[in-house]
Amino acid sequence: MKTLKIGVIGLGDISNAYLTNLQKYPDAVELYACACRTPEKAEAKKEQYGFRKAYASGEELLQDPDVDLVLNLTNPATHYKFNLAALKAGKHVYSEKPLAATYAEGKEIIALAGVKGLYVGCAPDTFMGSRIQTFRRLMDEGVTGDIVGGTANCIAHGWEWFHPNPGFFYQKGAGPVLDIGPYYMTALISLLGPIESVCAMGVQPQQERTIYSEPKKGETFQVDPDVMTSLMAVLKFKNGAVVNYNMVWDAWDSVMPRMELYGTKATLVMADEDPNAGPNLFGGDTLVKDQETYRWKNMPRVDGDEEIPWEIAEVKHDYDATSYVTNNRGIGIVDIAHAIAEGRKNRASGAMALHMLEVSEAILVSAREHRFIQMESTFERPEPMPQKH
Ligand SMILES: NC(=O)c1ccc[n+]([C@@H]2O[C@H](COP(=O)([O-])OP(=O)(O)OC[C@H]3O[C@@H](n4cnc5c(N)ncnc54)[C@H](O)[C@@H]3O)[C@@H](O)[C@H]2O)c1
Repeated sequence: MKTLKIGVIGLGDISNAYLTNLQKYPDAVELYACACRTPEKAEAKKEQYGFRKAYASGEELLQDPDVDLVLNLTNPATHYKFNLAALKAGKHVYSEKPLAATYAEGKEIIALAGVKGLYVGCAPDTFMGSRIQTFRRLMDEGVTGDIVGGTANCIAHGWEWFHPNPGFFYQKGAGPVLDIGPYYMTALISLLGPIESVCAMGVQPQQERTIYSEPKKGETFQVDPDVMTSLMAVLKFKNGAVVNYNMVWDAWDSVMPRMELYGTKATLVMADEDPNAGPNLFGGDTLVKDQETYRWKNMPRVDGDEEIPWEIAEVKHDYDATSYVTNNRGIGIVDIAHAIAEGRKNRASGAMALHMLEVSEAILVSAREHRFIQMESTFERPEPMPQKH
């Protein structure tokens, strides 16, 4: 397998999770170059993670002929610009979500990648973790039968109770559907395939919000008048399933499960008490109730290196260097290295990210204009993770 030389643009909050994880896969990826607008920060990360080169701008990094894949960890407003520029420079791309700010921009990226024969991958890759792969395995083995419906619920009070500077979550380009929604949506479409049409309603019950976290505790901020903070959508999948999708940032929690899928033979449930848990994490419990036993079985939680007591929870992948369950952010990049070597498509694909973007945008348009919207884009459902016994 060729080791991909990674060039990282953007070295903010999320970069440490990626860089720590990627160090575990030296056969697949090399942390080769990093770039940040603050040159001292780039130098510091170079020292910390052993990059060979540090650049003072993304543009300079893109000129480096030895970078094979650009990992774009900048803010959403610059995802499009660097994703497109990286492809133009002949490099594969893996981007933090969203792929671009709009579906139209996303289409440009995927079209260019097609012309150039380059790989595009995009976060989130949490669907490659043990819980959603457990869902997948139960579906593939016929335990669930056909999935006919489901629900996905992020019911919270926004992020102002923990984030030090939460105002940006309530400005254009953010809000629950674009911020946390991609984890839930990607989990659903990675399991059920493409969506045919959507409809939604949304509200903004609080124009002013109060920060509960330090250091700005007690301060208030205004919500952009165009940003709906609670949306409820209905998704019709091409396979016939209908799922309700509730992204609510105006509630003090809920006992609704983060996600449920209803099969003709069994129901699968993500029952997390912690409002931060759900499809945004790699692991977690899976409850199953099937037709035959008609009682809830709790698929055991698989964390770290704990023994796996129940065979059905053993959805392991071949990327040996780490336990696969807790926080494997970046595993989608390792998968690209394997995909290139094996001549196959990558799992956290640009095409799936583009569909996710089209659906998310359509939810917002539907809520604003009160109409059903048909989807244009499609993608191939990712292969399940390889299993090891
Ligand atoms: N922080 C999290 O917990 C988290 C979790 C999941 C996903 N994400 C996603 O990761 C991405 C980055 O988030 P973050 O929290 O690390 O943000 P951040 O603001 O902490 O870091 C962004 C980085 O991008 C750099 N950058 C921005 N514009 C640039 C430009 N033109 N040229 C070069 N560098 C530029 C900034 O200097 C900074 O280093 C976002 O898309 C976000 O949605 C973040």
